[in-house]
Amino acid sequence: MGQRKEQRRPFNRDVEYWNDFYKNKFFMSEPTAFARTILPYLKPGKKLIDVGCGNGRDSLFFYQSGINVLGIDASDVAIGQLQGKAKEGKLSFLCGDFTRQPDEAETYDYCYSRFTLHAISQEQSDLLFQHAARILKDGGVIWIEARSVHDDLYGQGIPLGKNEFLFDGHYRRFIEKKGLKKELEKAGFSVVYMEESRDFAPFQNERPAIIRAVGVKKGNRRTGGQGNGDEI
Ligand SMILES: C[S@@+](CC[C@H](N)C(=O)[O-])C[C@H]1O[C@@H](n2cnc3c(N)ncnc32)[C@H](O)[C@@H]1O
Repeated sequence: MGQRKEQRRPFNRDVEYWNDFYKNKFFMSEPTAFARTILPYLKPGKKLIDVGCGNGRDSLFFYQSGINVLGIDASDVAIGQLQGKAKEGKLSFLCGDFTRQPDEAETYDYCYSRFTLHAISQEQSDLLFQHAARILKDGGVIWIEARSVHDDLYGQGIPLGKNEFLFDGHYRRFIEKKGLKKELEKAGFSVVYMEESRDFAPFQNERPAIIRAVGVKKGNRRTGGQGNGDEI
């Protein structure tokens, strides 16, 4: 399959892989180190959208910490498992494309993207940032953690295009710090933090090369001491 055709495949191209993952493989329920790290910067009562929430381990953690959460994922299996945990007005889950949903404007304080950027194409990533800029309030914050081009998995599988590979039945696109910063800025974010490390997400014997980034949505109105960005 040519790389162009591959990139044009729909948002849920890997839905079978992820359904199988959430159905049959280990069910990781502990919140991630990234979620724990950023929690002190989040204010209770604020609204967070977890894009690519997977089994909801971080969505549930944020909700239990007093944040109102919407988790979105393309996997109907993952979202199906989470529906019973929803709490009206405080915690909800949606099966769909996080580059487009929900169809609201200026609603969220935080957009949380953990290990999802490297699961989507460049085109989808651009759409996600545009969408995040639309649904975040001025001063709203996007929190990102994703695999970098220096990750050991880079190069494994079938090459598709720049930094993209089809490996073990699913798609990965590895992220470059410089490019990520430019893309966030183009979408209307100020990048207030960006770092790469192998200490961010150790898992069993692996120490993946991970980029963390934080962007604050630039706005027309002054946020003063009330904006989320001032506290970072
Ligand atoms: C590596 S998992 C990360 C899950 C979770 N954030 C975590 O850290 O455990 C990537 C998730 O992104 C979801 N995903 C990928 N592209 C998507 C899209 N366009 N819309 C919604 N979900 C998507 C997949 O279904 C999968 O559950």
